[in-house]
Amino acid sequence: MDAVRLLSFFSFFFSIFLAQTVLCVDTCSPSSCSGTRPQVQFPFRLTDRQEYRCGYPSFDLSCNQTQTVLNLPFSGDFIVERIDYFSQSIYINDPDFCLPKRILSLNLSGSPFRGLYLSNFTFFNCTSSEWSEYYNIDDSVPLHCLSGDNYTVIAMAYPMFTPPGCRNISIVSVPVQYDQYQFGSMDFNQSLQLTWDLPDCRACVTDGGTCGFKSNSLTKIGCSNLPRHGLPRSAKYGIIIGAGIPGLVCIIGLACYICNWIKAYGRRHQLNTELATSTTAPQLVVVTTGLDATTIESYPKTVLGENQQLPKPNDGTCPICLSDYQTKETIRTIPECKHYFHANCIDEWLRMNATCPLCRNTPDGSSKVTPLSSISSSSSSSSSSSSSPSTS
Ligand SMILES: *[C@@H]1O[C@H](CO)[C@@H](O)[C@H](O)[C@H]1NC(C)=O
Ligand SMILES: *[C@@H]1O[C@H](CO)[C@@H](O)[C@H](O)[C@H]1NC(C)=O
Ligand SMILES: *[C@@H]1O[C@H](CO)[C@@H](O)[C@H](O)[C@H]1NC(C)=O
Ligand SMILES: *[C@@H]1O[C@H](CO)[C@@H](O)[C@H](O)[C@H]1NC(C)=O
Ligand SMILES: *[C@@H]1O[C@H](CO)[C@@H](O)[C@H](O)[C@H]1NC(C)=O
Ligand SMILES: *[C@@H]1O[C@H](CO)[C@@H](O)[C@H](O)[C@H]1NC(C)=O
Ligand SMILES: *[C@@H]1O[C@H](CO)[C@@H](O)[C@H](O)[C@H]1NC(C)=O
Repeated sequence: MDAVRLLSFFSFFFSIFLAQTVLCVDTCSPSSCSGTRPQVQFPFRLTDRQEYRCGYPSFDLSCNQTQTVLNLPFSGDFIVERIDYFSQSIYINDPDFCLPKRILSLNLSGSPFRGLYLSNFTFFNCTSSEWSEYYNIDDSVPLHCLSGDNYTVIAMAYPMFTPPGCRNISIVSVPVQYDQYQFGSMDFNQSLQLTWDLPDCRACVTDGGTCGFKSNSLTKIGCSNLPRHGLPRSAKYGIIIGAGIPGLVCIIGLACYICNWIKAYGRRHQLNTELATSTTAPQLVVVTTGLDATTIESYPKTVLGENQQLPKPNDGTCPICLSDYQTKETIRTIPECKHYFHANCIDEWLRMNATCPLCRNTPDGSSKVTPLSSISSSSSSSSSSSSSPSTS
């Protein structure tokens, strides 16, 4: 019973602890500049629409009308086209639609971002169109927004040499998208794909949870695994506390009951086995058969009074049914050895066995020699009859 109480207290405190860890992630609702995409949520935040603690440092975004703007410390403003929270990728482009120009001066230092797929491109500034005689137009694309009336700027992935009439501007590591990386495409109309490593919310987002700072912390990240649909949170805790704890207590109680029952059964079974084996002889077995009703009735019976002193040497428990003697119960004593038992328990026993269950004295010395073949039926009937008094 103490174990049951202890466990129920434990489960109670455990459920409180569980509620604490689930509740302790701040919930910041996602926002956006245009009312649609890209959706801005942790680790990003819109500086003018979301609280400070809704975003991770250096993940600040702002709105220019309907556009979402990311400012890189050494490269200036970019338009955010898409944010993929599953793969932790942000896709950025130039607000003035001249991405090659921005690529030439791209410097991600001081930002939490890095390119996931990097391709090297060599940029050339050509004052004649001679280069097109040496390089296929598919391998090198004139970058119109960088070019002027008298010169053309081109980019190449794998140039063998500097084309005639061109000046090697620089070789740039470009954070391209996966397909551009795969095919070495020259098309800089696609936005740049950047990724971030910290904070890592991928597992949380994949599980459908909400990533964010834990309460009272601006360093520790937590995940509140709240499904968008389903029961309200308070109802869930109500169910956990209302049904979970009584259920747990019931299971523990049942386990204790079964445990005790098995122990009691084991003790009784042991007694039976001892009795059965003690009567076993190599060839012939002595099986004591039961006493008749008149002999049993001749043994002294006592009804226990209020302050009845129990005679020695037994203690307060009936050795047959293993329950304590109560007032108003009838006990019967075996005259030979002065052992006593509940009357209904010992009567049942003596009908099958003529010996005292404790000292194995035979009250009237009536024992019989029986062949080995009959012992199994005899012992099985004695065990089934001796287990029935426990129900009384
Ligand atoms: C907002 O965008 C427009 C063009 O789209 C640009 O001219 C302007 O400078 C931007 N404002 C800020 C504060 O970046
Ligand atoms: C990026 O800019 C910083 C500060 O101007 C400079 O120290 C760093 O060398 C630059 N990195 C590259 C790759 O140009
Ligand atoms: C790009 O060039 C740098 C040297 O400028 C080199 O270390 C790097 O391996 C190159 N990357 C690829 C993908 O070729
Ligand atoms: C290309 O060269 C021309 C002069 O020949 C110059 O005016 C222009 O700024 C250069 N462009 C780049 C991107 O270096
Ligand atoms: C470009 O070429 C034209 C003639 O084709 C010339 O008039 C002009 O001055 C040149 N511009 C520059 C910047 O060299
Ligand atoms: C262009 O210049 C860079 C150094 O700025 C050099 O590493 C590269 O090999 C040059 N490319 C060609 C094709 O000459
Ligand atoms: C990419 O942009 C250029 C202008 O900079 C345009 O001429 C070209 O058609 C665009 N390509 C694609 C595939 O959109």
